[in-house]
Amino acid sequence: MNLFIDNADISAIRHIYEYYPVDGVSTNPTLLSRTGRAPFAVLREIRDFIGADELFVQAVSPDAAGMVREARRIVRELGEETLIKIPAVPEGYKAMKELEREGIRFIGTAVYTVMQGFIAAKCGAEYVAPYVNRIDSMGFDGVQVALDLQDAIDNNGLDSGLIAASFRNTQQVMELIRCGVKSVTVSPEVFAGLTGGAMIDAAVEKFSADFASLTGKGVTMENCD
Ligand code: G3P
Repeated sequence: MNLFIDNADISAIRHIYEYYPVDGVSTNPTLLSRTGRAPFAVLREIRDFIGADELFVQAVSPDAAGMVREARRIVRELGEETLIKIPAVPEGYKAMKELEREGIRFIGTAVYTVMQGFIAAKCGAEYVAPYVNRIDSMGFDGVQVALDLQDAIDNNGLDSGLIAASFRNTQQVMELIRCGVKSVTVSPEVFAGLTGGAMIDAAVEKFSADFASLTGKGVTMENCD
C-alpha cells in the first residue's frame, strides 16, 4: 500500500516526509489555491524536494483538448513521475483516451460512483480516486463505494489501482488499508491522527518517567550504567 500526502504546502510536506514512510504527493486546484502562490513555483518546489516520487497534478480545463495540452506541459515541466489528475466526467474520459495514446500517465479523479471509476480505469487510468468522505457526506458509504470499485476493477481484469482520497478520520483510512487498496492519499491533519493520540503519548511518557526515576533525568540507554 502506498501512502501519499494530499497537500501542496511544502513545509507540511517536508515535515511528514521527515517522520513517515511516504511515497509521494497529491495536489488539486483547491490545495494549490490555499498556498496563494504561482502553481508551477509551488509544484517545482515539491518536485525538487520529493525527487523521483510520484506527484499528482490536476488539469483544470473544461474541455478534453485543454486538459491534454495542460497534461503535456505538466509532464514537460515536472517530469514523467508526474501523473495528471483528470476528472472522471465525459470530457475527462475523452482526454484520458488521448493521454493513453500519448503514453502520459494519468489518474481518474473526483470519483463519487463505481461506474465513474470503472470507466476511468477502462480508459487506462493508472489510479482512480474515490472521494471517500465526500461520498459519506452525500449519505452513502464512501469506504464501501471504494471497495466496490476495487472489486469492479479486479473482476474485470483492469490494471488500475485505487488512490482513495478525501478522508476526515483515521477509521476511513484504516478500513481501506486493511482491505489492501493500492494507495491512499491523506491530508496532514488526518496524518497526524493516524498513529497518534493522547493515550499513546501518555504511555510513552510513562516509560521515560519510570526510567528517569531509576537513573536520573536526561539519562538514557546511551549513557546509563
Ligand atoms: O485530492 C482530492 C481529494 O483528496 C479531495 O479531498 O478533503 O477536499 O474532500 P477533500
